[in-house]
Amino acid sequence: MATAAPGTVALELRDVSKTFGQVVALSSGSLTVTTGSIHALVGENGAGKSTMVKIIAGLYRPDGGTYALFGEAVDFRTTAEAKDAGIAVIYQEPTLFPDLSVTENIFMGRQPRGRLGRIDRKAMDTEARALFARLGVPIDPERPADGLSIADQQIIEIAKAISLDARVLIMDEPTAALSGVEVERLMTIARALRDEGRALVFISHRFDEVFSLCDTITVMRDGAYVSTDRIADVTVDDIVRRLVGRDVDDLYPKQEAEIGEVVLEISGLTRAGLFHDVDLQVRRGEIVGLAGLVGAGRSEIVQAAFGVDPYDAGTVKVNGKKVPPNDPAAAIRLGIALVPEDRRKHGLVLDSTITRNITMAIRRRLSRAGLLSSGAEVTTARDWASRLEVKTTTLDTLAGTLSGGNQQKVVLAKWLSTRPDVLIVDEPTRGIDVGTKAEVHRLLSELAGEGMAVLMISSELPEVLGMADRVVVVHEGRITAELNREDATPEAVMYAATNTQGASA
Ligand SMILES: Nc1ncnc2c1ncn2[C@@H]1O[C@H](COP(=O)(O)OP(=O)(O)OP(=O)(O)O)[C@@H](O)[C@H]1O
Ligand SMILES: [Mg+2]
Repeated sequence: MATAAPGTVALELRDVSKTFGQVVALSSGSLTVTTGSIHALVGENGAGKSTMVKIIAGLYRPDGGTYALFGEAVDFRTTAEAKDAGIAVIYQEPTLFPDLSVTENIFMGRQPRGRLGRIDRKAMDTEARALFARLGVPIDPERPADGLSIADQQIIEIAKAISLDARVLIMDEPTAALSGVEVERLMTIARALRDEGRALVFISHRFDEVFSLCDTITVMRDGAYVSTDRIADVTVDDIVRRLVGRDVDDLYPKQEAEIGEVVLEISGLTRAGLFHDVDLQVRRGEIVGLAGLVGAGRSEIVQAAFGVDPYDAGTVKVNGKKVPPNDPAAAIRLGIALVPEDRRKHGLVLDSTITRNITMAIRRRLSRAGLLSSGAEVTTARDWASRLEVKTTTLDTLAGTLSGGNQQKVVLAKWLSTRPDVLIVDEPTRGIDVGTKAEVHRLLSELAGEGMAVLMISSELPEVLGMADRVVVVHEGRITAELNREDATPEAVMYAATNTQGASA
C-alpha cells in the first residue's frame, strides 16, 4: 500500500457546502485527517456528518469548498472514482449482494482471471480466506452473504476495502447495530488498520467508544465545523457542551411512578429454537428493561407478543384480555404499540411527509365522520416533532431525506402519539444524539408516570439501569434473571446475560 509517513495529511476538506433545494445540509464542513490516525466525527442528528461522508465518497459533489487527498485537489464525479483514489466507506447497514458468495462480494467487478480467461474462483477464495485470517475473523468465503450478521457484513466490507488497498477508511455509525463483543472486534481491527498507516474516520453517538478508540475529534454543529482537538486534551463533557450548545446534566431522568396492576402478561411464550417458556409481566407505571446480548432473543419475544411473528405455545394478555397470535392490528386495538428496532425498514414510509408518518397510526382518531382533520393532524405532528426535536425546516419534508437519527425520532413520535396502554420500545435511542437521548428518556419516564406500562429493550446497559424499575435478563431465549432496580448492578445483569456464575433466576 501507499506508505505515507504517519502524520501525513491524507484527507482535507475545507468549508465544503451542500444544499438540497431549501435545505442546507452542510454550510461549511471542514475535516483534516492524517495517516496512522483514527479521527472521530461527532455532532447532533442532522449536523451534516453523513452528507460530508457522501461528498468524500463521491456520491455527492459539493456546491462549494475544497477537497484534497494527500495534498492533491480532487473532484469526484462518481463513487468509483473515489474508490480508485483509495477511499472506502463502511456504512451502518452494509449493502452486500445477498445471493452472491462472500468472496464474490469482496471481488465484485474485478475478478482475477486464470489462464483461459476464466474467473479464478479458487484464487479468490484463497485470498478472501487470507484476508479474514489477517482480520482474525472466521468467515467462510464460499458461503452466501445472505444470513450473515450485520457485524460480519461490515467485516466483509472492511476486507473489501483492504483488498482494494484503501488508504482512507470512513465508518459512518458502524457500531449502532452491534453487540459489545462485536464492537470490541471492530475496534481491534480499526486499531490494526491505523497501525498500518491508514487514515480512519469514525462516526458514532456513543462517546465511550469515541474516547477509547479515537486519537483526534472534530465536532460539527448545524452543518458547520466547530472544533478539532486531540482526544487527550478534551473531556466527554467538553464535547457534549460544544455539540448540544448546553450542559446535559441528567441523561437518565427517572421519575418515581406509582406502580399499579398488571397490564401486559406474557406466559409460557415459546417458539422452537428462538425462545422458551417466557413469563413476563409489566404493570401500570412501570418501566421494565429487557436486557441481554444481541441475539439473545429479546426482539423475537416482543415481536411474537405483538403478533408480527408467530409462536408455538403460550399466551399474551393485555388488561386481562387475550391478544390473538399473528394479528398486530388486534394487538394495537387492545392497546399495545411496538417501536421496532429496525425503524428504517419497518415503520417509516420514506416517500411520505414527516406529518403523515407521525399521524399514520392515529388517523382514525383524528378523523371526524371519516374526514381527516388536517388541522388536528398538523398540530399533533408539530407537537411530537418538537418534543423529540426532529430537525427539519418544515414538516412537509419527506421522511426519506431526513438524517438517520431524525428518521428514528419520527418513528418514535408515530408510536408515542398513539398513547398505548403498553409501549414496547426496541432500542429506543439507537442512532439518537446525546441531547435528544435525554429527551427520549424523559418522555418514557413521563409516559410511565401517566400510567403507561413500558417494556424497553436496550443493549446499552447504562440506559437499562438508569431507566428501568425492573430488569429482566434474557440469555439464549430464556429468562435467566429478574432484578429489582436496587439489585440491578452491571455485574448482576452481565452474569445473567452470559449465564455465568452469580446469576440467580
Ligand atoms: N438528499 C437529501 N435531501 C434533502 N435533505 C437532505 C438530504 N440529505 C441530507 N439532508 C438534510 O441535511 C441535514 C444533514 O443530514 P446528515 O444526514 O448529513 O446528518 P448527520 O449528521 O449524518 O445526522 P445523524 O446523526 O442523524 O445521522 C439534515 O437536515 C437532512 O435532513
Ligand atoms: Mg448520519
